[in-house]
Amino acid sequence: MNILVIHGPNLNMLGKRNEKHYGTFTLDELYQEIADYFEDIEFSFFQTSYEGEMIDVIHQAEADGYDALIINPGAYTHTSIAIRDALECIDLIKVEVHLSDIEQREDFRKIDYIKDVCHARFMGKKIDSYIEAIKFIESAYQEEQMHDIDV
Ligand code: DQA
Repeated sequence: MNILVIHGPNLNMLGKRNEKHYGTFTLDELYQEIADYFEDIEFSFFQTSYEGEMIDVIHQAEADGYDALIINPGAYTHTSIAIRDALECIDLIKVEVHLSDIEQREDFRKIDYIKDVCHARFMGKKIDSYIEAIKFIESAYQEEQMHDIDV
């Protein structure tokens, strides 16, 4: 199984952001922890601060042959209908992840344009949000394979 992991703006600054919400690890350390935890899964990691670039990568994900996509769009979660529409176009297992609990922060972070175009949302547990998301993908993927065999 191969999973595309997409991060949005300011997530390249992990390690320098508010420790309470985001911890002290860097984005590279986050990538390493994920890869070490799930040795049998192939990951591609991508980070951008540009909305259009993120949309292009989402559009390409299915053609590139990924089985699933994890997205932490950063602040675009709360603003971008365009990213929502891009996610809606592609037929992959899609999971939204946040390090912090966006339901327990400022009111503007409670607006989430992408949650209902993803299969699941994990948040508030820093790196463990990603671990939970990947476990979800593993079981969704297995179910999908079983379904394919049944048909
Ligand atoms: C975030 C939450 C967003 O509100 C914020 O803009 C981010 C990170 C998170 O992972 O908790 O940049 O997506």
